[in-house]
Order: sequence, then structure tokens, then C-alpha cells
Amino acid sequence: MGKINLLSFEVANLIAAGEVVDRPASVIKELMENSIDAGAKRITVEIKNGGITYMRVSDDGCGIAPEDMPLALKRHATSKIANAEDLNAIFTLGFRGEALAAISSVSKVRILSKTADAESGTLLYAEGGNILSVSETGCPNGTTVTVEELFANVPARRKFLKKDATETAAVCANVEKIALSHPEIAVRLITDGVSKLETVGDGKLENTIYSIYGREFAKHLLSIKAQNGGVEVTGYIGNSHNVKPTRAYQNFFINHRFIKSKTATAAIEQAFSSYIASERFPACVLFIDINPGAVDVNVHPAKLEVKFSNEKLIFDTVYYAVRSALEKSTDRAELEFSGGSQPARHAGTSAFTPPVSRAFVPVVDRVDRPAFQPEQIRFTKPQIGGSLVLSSPSSSENTMNEPEKGSEDIGKIAPLHTAATAPPAVDATSHIPFADRADVKATDAADIRNFVEKLPLPEYKIIGVAFNTYIFVESEGKVTIIDKHAAHERIIFESMRRRIRDFSPSPQVLLVPIVLALPQGDFAAVLENTACFESIGFAFSADETTRQIKISQIPSVLKINDVSDIFATMAAQLATGTGNIEITKNEVYERVIYQASCKAAMKGGRVDSDSDVRYVVEKVLTIPDLTVCPHGRPVVVTLTKHSLDRQFGRE
Ligand SMILES: Nc1ncnc2c1ncn2[C@@H]1O[C@H](COP(=O)(O)OP(=O)(O)O)[C@@H](O)[C@H]1O
Ligand SMILES: [Mg+2]
Repeated sequence: MGKINLLSFEVANLIAAGEVVDRPASVIKELMENSIDAGAKRITVEIKNGGITYMRVSDDGCGIAPEDMPLALKRHATSKIANAEDLNAIFTLGFRGEALAAISSVSKVRILSKTADAESGTLLYAEGGNILSVSETGCPNGTTVTVEELFANVPARRKFLKKDATETAAVCANVEKIALSHPEIAVRLITDGVSKLETVGDGKLENTIYSIYGREFAKHLLSIKAQNGGVEVTGYIGNSHNVKPTRAYQNFFINHRFIKSKTATAAIEQAFSSYIASERFPACVLFIDINPGAVDVNVHPAKLEVKFSNEKLIFDTVYYAVRSALEKSTDRAELEFSGGSQPARHAGTSAFTPPVSRAFVPVVDRVDRPAFQPEQIRFTKPQIGGSLVLSSPSSSENTMNEPEKGSEDIGKIAPLHTAATAPPAVDATSHIPFADRADVKATDAADIRNFVEKLPLPEYKIIGVAFNTYIFVESEGKVTIIDKHAAHERIIFESMRRRIRDFSPSPQVLLVPIVLALPQGDFAAVLENTACFESIGFAFSADETTRQIKISQIPSVLKINDVSDIFATMAAQLATGTGNIEITKNEVYERVIYQASCKAAMKGGRVDSDSDVRYVVEKVLTIPDLTVCPHGRPVVVTLTKHSLDRQFGRE
């Protein structure tokens, strides 16, 4: 007796349905995607009991013609593609004609729809995939789909549903993502009779972000816009003070479709290195737009993953777009009192001020100030740890002990010594008190960064140094509080980083080669990218049968013990499209200079001369993009007079 059964049509349908819908949230996603494909300007979602007993999605889209109604529930019935060629470039969110069939086979479905040119609407009712009635009825243009008793006929599925609150949360998350993906659509979500979410639908992404993530979040964003080889990346990222403990705030949309992308995630996370603490994750709402022919959306049952014809291009475009926004960012944390009669965080704002991020203010606005007038400067002798001695070049010499120690550390970094442009000799009369004086001197004229304009030094007064750690400075109607170690660390880090940016290392030939075996995919990626590895100083031979790489020469900056790890990481990143050799190389270098700058920087809790303090203060006041230390901690927080006045009831 044979063992193979041919399953019935019903069972086959249930199996197929299981791949498309597994919980209320996936039903909502499919229904909302249909509304978007129908050109809706307004979508309202309502659920009860986590969606398990009741879900409804209404739209004002194109509607379904009466004769199409029964077809809509059939498997492989779609108005979006017609033949195999259409699969090569998909312009709509749906295309398989499976969702309504799947949903209706596991629930009770009611579809009410009317097209603009039809006299009246049609109402269809189906249970377990069987159409029980179709009738004519009056209704507005558009479509409303109601889904009741989800999985009532599939106990195996139903028992895997979580508590109502958990299912509700999953629905909310999907509705939020879809609302973010289409700021031109007004989306409303009602759960158990309570309005949970409402977006305006005015086409402005920042307003949609504000509606979904709130004012505090929307205040700390950086705008992203980049184009590279047919890929366009636009949207917003949270700045370095707006990072999260999980990846829940990472939103990537490929051609306005929400997806999970390892490539994009890796790109943004690598771009954030040296701007974020290690246990934090960046937040983003990023749109990646690409020719639909260059991306395959037909690789995942719920269409949550896609395949790019060129992963590296996506990686690079996202990485550089995010990185350059971070490097240009001048956002500094603002200290606000949360207690008091009126919480300062709502100061001067009505409940619904239009969401304006500080990041949206063009940098020029801040840079555009009256020219610096030296005679205006009002120096107040800083009181630093009881030392009232005003600095002179010779007195600052006394403070050189610790930084000198640091400079030894810096000296251990090979590339800095062999850099093509040696730093000019230190001017003995100049007022640059630290070990990094040579580094800083080298970059002072051109500024630490190329792109953010340096500010003229404002009139300022050093109030003092608290706990030998935080420098309080008054200038321009606010108090700037500087973490002296963090600030100095970033100053040194930037000056070193700038010098290694264009640096190609002198390779080191190994007496005993390093041998490592790689998995097939990674090995193939190494062979494909041999030239890249060579360009940064590696030389190796590869044995195809054992998949072994024999490394005979390494970039001199690497420690021999780290070589295997770094090489294997680069190979894996190349194989999965989650990295690029040049970027990984820079990251390795940056890790080295992190450590050096941390050691060389002035220490919290120790007494520093007033000239050293002033040096850091002046850097902070004139370099607006000095915002976080290389470990992602803030360098500066500001406290406005306004905020203090409110706290003391003066306003
Ligand atoms: N909200 C809607 N507005 C207009 N037409 C719709 C809507 N929902 C479904 N349809 C029609 O029903 C068809 C089947 O939908 P579905 O099963 O989700 O498959 P797909 O979206 O892959 O085409 C769609 O192709 C579309 O023509
Ligand atoms: Mg669909």
C-alpha cells in the first residue's frame, strides 16, 4: 500500500493560509496593504480583543467592482499582476492574490465595497472560505473588510495566539510601521473602542513620526538624504541622544514596503560606532528607494524580507548617508527640569505645537552671528581645585605629565607615525596645553572637521569646575556644562581620525603565516574581493580544497592575535552584504584610537590647570559638532536661562 495521500483542497488551503496569516497583526498588515494598493488616502483600523474576535479595515480607495467580488477571495486571484514577466518588477505591495483567500479560509469575512463609477456597493459574506451571500447595498466609495472569529476553525493555530494585550501590541506595531511607510495616508487605529493612533496624512514624514513616537522623539532627529548608483536613501535617524535599548525603533522601507533587512541594520549600526554606547541601538525611519527590478520581494511568505541584486550598494548607501549625518550633527543634550510647578519640558509649548526638531534648523542659522570681537571677551579667573594661577605657556608645562603619558600611548599606534603629512612642529608660544597639541595643532587651522563650520568664539565666562569633572561655562544666555574628560577625548579622537582617514598603512610581512579555514560562502567572498583585502595591506594565498586562507602579510596596525578574527569578520560581512572592507578597516583603526584618546584625555576627578580647562571650553564653544565622546556619552549639556527662570518661578 502506498503511503502518499493527496490532500484535499481545503487542507491545502489551510496550509497555504498558515504561511500568510499567523496572527491578527498579519491580517491587519495584509488588509492595510490592499488599501494602500487601492490608492486610499485614509485608512481606519479597528480591532477588539487583540483582533481575535473582531478586526475591521476601511479605506476610501478604488473599491472592488461587483463582478470581481467573488474572485477576490479565490487563491491566485489578483488585479496587480497578469503574467510571469510582471514578477520581475513589482510596483504594488500585494501581487500573489493570496491574502483574502487565506484570511477568509480561517475566519468569517465580510467585504463591503463600492467603486466610484458603480451605482451601488456590494456586500459579500464568507465563512471558512465559502461564500455564503453576495448582495447589493448602499455604501460610500471604498472598501471595508471585517474579519471575525479568527482561526475558529483551526484550533492548532488558535491555541498559539497570545494574550489579547500581546496581540493588540503586535497589531499596533504593524499599524505604526505602515503609517510611517506612507505619510500621505491618514491612518487611524482604534482598539477596544479607544483611539490609539492617528496620523494626519499630510505627506510630511516628520509629522507622522511625531504622531507615532511623540514629541521628545521627534525633537531629536537628523534628516537623511543620499543617492548612490540608483539607490536613494531618505528619512530620519534618531541623533546620538535619541538611541534605544532595543531595535524596535528601527524602520526600513524598501520602495515604501516595511521589511527586515540585515544589510540595512548592519549599515546603520556600523555607522553609529563611536556615536553610541555599546548596549544601545540606533532609531530610524529610513526609506530605501530602488528600481523595482533590482529587488526581489517574492522571497518570503509574508514579504518581510527581500533580496537585492546588489546588497553592497544598499549597505554603502545607508552607511555613508547615516555616517555623514552623524558627523555633521550639532545636536547637544539640553538639561530640563522635570519637577516644579510647570514641567520645563513643556515650556512655552501648547500641547500640539508643530513638531519641529532642532535638527531641522539649518546649521547656518546658528553659525550666522556677529563677527568675533576680541575686546568683548570677559575672562573671569577660573577657580579650579583651588588653583588660581592664570596660565602661561610655562605654567601649562606643569600639567603635561599626564598627557605626556598619553602621548606615549598614542605613539604606539603605527599609522600615526608613518602618516604622509607629519604634523608641523609645535609653536612654543602657542596655547595648546595637551599631549595632543601636535595633533590638534595640525588640524586647528582647517578645523577638526571639514563640513561643519566652526563658530566664532562667543563671549564666555567659566563659572567653575564641579567635582573636578564638569566645567560650567556661561555664554549667550545659557550655561554649558562640559564633561571635561568626554570632551577632550572626542577632540583627540577626531584629530587622530582625520589623519588616518586617507592613510594607507605600511604592511607587515609575517614570518610565520596565519592560517584560517572559512565556511564556503565566506571563502568565496574572500576570493571575489581579493583586491580589496590587498588594498588595505593583506597578502594571502587560498586553497580551494581545504578552504584555507594562508595570510602572509597584514596591515601593520593590526595586532597579530586579532588578525584571524578580523579577517573572518570581514569575510562574513562581505558574504552576507553586511559590511565593506574599507569601513571595517576604519572601524578597527578607530577602536585603536578610542583607547589612545581615552588614555590621553584629561581625567574626571583630577585637577587641571585653568589654561587646560579653557582650552577644552573654547573647543566646545567653537566646534558645534562636538556632541558625544567616542563611547557615545554626551560631551556637553546645556541649561538655558529660560529653563532656570521657570524653575524659580520668575516666568
Ligand atoms: N481594499 C481593497 N480595495 C480595492 N481592491 C481590493 C482591496 N482588497 C482587495 N482588493 C482586490 O482583491 C484582490 C485580491 O486581494 P489579495 O488577496 O490581498 O491579493 P493581492 O493583494 O496579492 O492582489 C486584489 O488584487 C484587489 O484587486
Ligand atoms: Mg493583498
